[in-house]
Amino acid sequence: MSIAEIFESLEYGPAPESASPVTRWLDEHDRTTRLYVGGEWRDPAGGEYFDSTNPATAKPLARISQAGREDVDAAVAAAGAALPAWQALGGHGRARYLYALARQVQKHSRLFAVLESMDNGKPIRESRDIDIPLVARHFYHHAGWSQLMETDAELRDAAPVGVIGQIIPWNFPLLMLSWKIAPALAMGNTVVLKPAEFTSLTAILFAEVCDEIGLPPGVVNLITGDGRTGALMVEHPDVDKIAFTGSTEVGRIIRVATAGSGKKLSLELGGKSPFLVFEDADLDSVVEGVVDAIWFNQGQVCCAGSRILAQEGISGRLTEKLRARMETLRVGDPLDKSVDIGAIVAPVQLQKIQELVQQGVDEGATMWQPSWSCPQEGCFFPPTLFTDVSPSSTIAQVEIFGPVVVAMTFRTPAEAVELANNTQYGLASSVWTENINLALDIAPKIKAGTVWVNCTNVFDAASGFGGYRESGYGREGGREGLWEYVKPRWAAEARKDAAKKEKTKAPKGDDARPKLGGLPPIDRTAKMYIGGKQARPDGGNSLAVHGAGGRLIGEVGLGNRKDVRNAVEAAHKAAGWAKQTGHNRAQILFYLAENLAARTDEFTRRVAALTGDEAGAAREVEATIRRLYTYAAWADKWDGDVHHTPHRMVTLAMKEAIGVVAVACPDEAPLLGFVSLVAPLIAMGNTVVAIPSERWPLAATDFYQVLDTSDVPGGVVNIVTGKREELAQTLAAHDDVDSMWYFGGAEGSEMVERLSAGNMKRTWVDYGRPRDWLSPEQGEGAEFLREGTHVKNIWVPYGE
Ligand code: NAI
Ligand code: MG
Repeated sequence: MSIAEIFESLEYGPAPESASPVTRWLDEHDRTTRLYVGGEWRDPAGGEYFDSTNPATAKPLARISQAGREDVDAAVAAAGAALPAWQALGGHGRARYLYALARQVQKHSRLFAVLESMDNGKPIRESRDIDIPLVARHFYHHAGWSQLMETDAELRDAAPVGVIGQIIPWNFPLLMLSWKIAPALAMGNTVVLKPAEFTSLTAILFAEVCDEIGLPPGVVNLITGDGRTGALMVEHPDVDKIAFTGSTEVGRIIRVATAGSGKKLSLELGGKSPFLVFEDADLDSVVEGVVDAIWFNQGQVCCAGSRILAQEGISGRLTEKLRARMETLRVGDPLDKSVDIGAIVAPVQLQKIQELVQQGVDEGATMWQPSWSCPQEGCFFPPTLFTDVSPSSTIAQVEIFGPVVVAMTFRTPAEAVELANNTQYGLASSVWTENINLALDIAPKIKAGTVWVNCTNVFDAASGFGGYRESGYGREGGREGLWEYVKPRWAAEARKDAAKKEKTKAPKGDDARPKLGGLPPIDRTAKMYIGGKQARPDGGNSLAVHGAGGRLIGEVGLGNRKDVRNAVEAAHKAAGWAKQTGHNRAQILFYLAENLAARTDEFTRRVAALTGDEAGAAREVEATIRRLYTYAAWADKWDGDVHHTPHRMVTLAMKEAIGVVAVACPDEAPLLGFVSLVAPLIAMGNTVVAIPSERWPLAATDFYQVLDTSDVPGGVVNIVTGKREELAQTLAAHDDVDSMWYFGGAEGSEMVERLSAGNMKRTWVDYGRPRDWLSPEQGEGAEFLREGTHVKNIWVPYGE
């Protein structure tokens, strides 16, 4: 072809990146990889191997070790053995290693990028310019957090969790590895990591880098294998936390498998992220945005903008522009520097995409693909746009995880929000409009962990990333991501045998009956409190409440499923509470404290009658008043952050209410336990369904009179009395409950975590470990506020 002809046709010539460094590396390893355990390379004990393939050529690259039980045990043991020295090294010592990892990733960046593209099928442009630089960035950033761990005002009260099991997917193999390993090591943990079976190779190279920099043996252990290996890690008793990224299906299995084990858990799962285009958006930018949203990494991105929601007036024009742009996209050899879309990771994934696309056609949507065809060899799929899609159809609801986008329309901003949230997921979203007021009005209304304004798929180590709802929980990156890898220092130091300590004072004998100042005991059946009104139990039954000395001192309603459902509904109706200002909520919490203080005597007598401990009761009421002050104080001070991401953007980390939170209160501290859990939640804008202490519920039921007189809107706090386990079971399984806190013992904790897997609600449970409610360190503060909020990161670009 002559130069003149090329000018005419504007055809691209081939621009291949050389595969030879990778070929050399693979050959040096005899095309077989081993397991990295305790700083040594070992063969899998079971002698089992599987192939890793280049999806662009369908040719095998290497044989990968399948780690079995013996190997997993050895890796976990090595991580455990490495823990004391790694922690003793201190933040600065660990920072030096993390810095060395960052430097070394940069030094080997070409090899990493080519290896990643060959193993995964992603275009070299992306692995070279996005994945690998972000990996280095992640290690640099967390070298910094490691350095600060002992001095940062918030972090210095935190302790490492221990041995972390990390399981990652195939879509961003090395990037996901860095998101997992960097914060874990920075906070003084050691890890056992399992890459996905389709893409183990860059993890092997990373383990070699760990070796090269002299990372102490056992700090990072790398085991390869499929889901069976992952399951062994999940079940392992000596693993203290599981961090998982992958499908919602496996996330759910892991939630159930770890229920009650006391393992910390973070899950980054699937998504069906909305991409909202308002009619004043710059449509040419929008088109490039769609390219980045759904054709980046072949659409195999958990936060892919896979649902375009366009305002009616411009949707036709947008479709036309998109089709024209799609015609110019280039699908082909991932190692070609001018290819936009590479290969789908594996034949099974290709087949899944093909089946879902066929289903979309069968369900009546209009499918459009460019006129050109994909390479026939290897796993390729063309960019695909569906229009005329109904919001409830399969392709509008199911994560396709391929280069397939569905488009729908809306009329008003309110309708846009409704459609955006019409999904079980909540990972990310993009909002396109030239009107900053509109963008910042919409962003908080979308239930997703990330909102990109006039941009999409932008990531950085300084910003948190993670989901709402069935997209999982926990954040990765930024200050908010660190909390996944630490626990409160007091909890770490609490002696193991403390769990055996009796949690509540045994009822004393009759002669210990408190002196009630001559007043007759208060004797009536306390009602439940739902939607701001006293409510009789649906079943009409009641439960006797015995106080000190076993004396009957009252009755409460025996709540059932129907009562729970009513309470959840009332809590949802009160969602406007989240929109009140922090100042308003603070005023109401102060007012609660004031009104409780005015009734100190009455409440002290009540608590004393229940517990038989008069002095303790006085302390408890006093502490409760203080606690209300604490959360009145926090209501307008639990600020978000503005993250320093290295783009021309402000990244606003906003703390948001979770929604409807169910709370099962501890038996002990009948008033303080209740208020310690309910107050932080309502301070943050959540609405609550609380089950008070089953044994001594009367202090909580008395408290609704205080709620009534303190201007707390109806439905913000709902109280259902009865059998805690039964009620908690209904709440844990309830699809309209967004989170559940459970403080009632080991068995109930297991039950709550297990049942939460239904809608993947967040949970916070006590596993039967005691907490001193009177102590400000254990009974209040940041831990409660973090558990009661989501962090949403809103990215807003600036500049012309
Ligand atoms: P997956 O969820 O099965 O795999 C993710 C990781 O979990 C892999 O390392 C795998 O070996 C491991 N694993 C599998 N079963 C396990 C178990 N029972 N216990 C512990 N670990 C286990 O995802 P897969 O099969 O690779 O892809 C299936 C679908 O999942 C995709 O089509 C896509 O829709 C979705 N997916 C979503 C991702 C995301 O980032 N949101 C990432 C990967 C897949
Ligand atoms: Mg592969």
